[in-house]
Amino acid sequence: MISDYFTSNDIEPRFICGNSLEVLKEFPDNCIDMAMTSPPYWGKREYVIAESIGLEKDYNEYIEKMLSIFEQVQRVLKINGSFWLNIGDSYLNKNLLGLPWRVAIRMCDEQGWILRNSVVWNKVKGAPDNSLDKLRNVHEMLFHFVKSKKYYYDVSAARKEPLKAKVQNGAVVSATGVTGVRYKRQIELSTVLTDEQKQSAFFELTAVLDSVRNGEIEDFRMIIKGQQRTTHSNSTKVSGRAKELETKGFYFLKYHPDGAKLGDVWDIIPEDTQGRKLHFAPYPADLCRTPILTTCPANGVVLDPFSGTGTTMAVAYESGRKSVGIEIAQEYIDYAEERIGINEQNQGFLWSVYQAK
Ligand SMILES: C[S@@+](CC[C@H](N)C(=O)[O-])C[C@H]1O[C@@H](n2cnc3c(N)ncnc32)[C@H](O)[C@@H]1O
Repeated sequence: MISDYFTSNDIEPRFICGNSLEVLKEFPDNCIDMAMTSPPYWGKREYVIAESIGLEKDYNEYIEKMLSIFEQVQRVLKINGSFWLNIGDSYLNKNLLGLPWRVAIRMCDEQGWILRNSVVWNKVKGAPDNSLDKLRNVHEMLFHFVKSKKYYYDVSAARKEPLKAKVQNGAVVSATGVTGVRYKRQIELSTVLTDEQKQSAFFELTAVLDSVRNGEIEDFRMIIKGQQRTTHSNSTKVSGRAKELETKGFYFLKYHPDGAKLGDVWDIIPEDTQGRKLHFAPYPADLCRTPILTTCPANGVVLDPFSGTGTTMAVAYESGRKSVGIEIAQEYIDYAEERIGINEQNQGFLWSVYQAK
């Protein structure tokens, strides 16, 4: 039974062959920690099964089908769960439809999802485009939705490896090369700071450099009145920083010691599809790593309702999470199971779901 898998220690992915909407209806409420998927494009690709989504004449019908599946995804997600949706756009009569946003907005307005991020996946290379009247399309959207305002999020998995500070000839040099020498000169020569402000600026700068030396922080920037450009509003009414600058004459921006957070534009080259027998969609494993590590707890369950060749499941498995993939084409499941190396006894999971009734 599927619920036995959820409570077991077995993390080997399970694939269920069938129409996602029908299969999901068999799932209990609140059983999935995190879902990630890339549904079929509308009007672009031909999949092996005639009932596949994406072949509708009218894109509105495609949107309706997506919404009814995502309603089920929402039901099966735990209250602190996340749903990452990578969805491609399509043209109709030369008009870029904006399908990803049409779907996302309706999910928020009609189903109550909360959209936390819209990540631009920059495919860097992209496919060649021979049209003579528009740019090459090289990005897709990846939306991060949550079910409620409080949700599981491991921010440490969203940080880049921090650069390290070092000591050179006895002087400390921050991760990005800040030594404090330039700041000291700016303070000394300042015609804006009072003597008292200069004294406390020197004092605090020395303390910050000490904390870089001790490894408490790896980097910092100093904002000195009349010198550096500020990123905040200059109004002392709206910005605490502007107020600090006005009264103290300076402030510090200290970088997080665990590294900077990833931004919402990701450069990921689509996987090389040459080596794969069946692969049709450029959905790389790297696209799944940050979503799974940040929003699925270590003992959690990942769901992909359009699992194709099983990339989401492969990444979940590699990171020690349980996962369930739903896919209409048995051919793709066979390939995914072979790719991941699924034991024979765990194949053909459809039976287990329906037998449980
Ligand atoms: C863009 S591909 C997913 C690719 C996948 N991320 C991978 O790693 O290969 C979309 C998949 O959805 C499947 N599909 C289409 N309609 C479906 C439906 N109604 N229920 C379940 N799967 C469906 C297609 O067969 C196809 O494999």
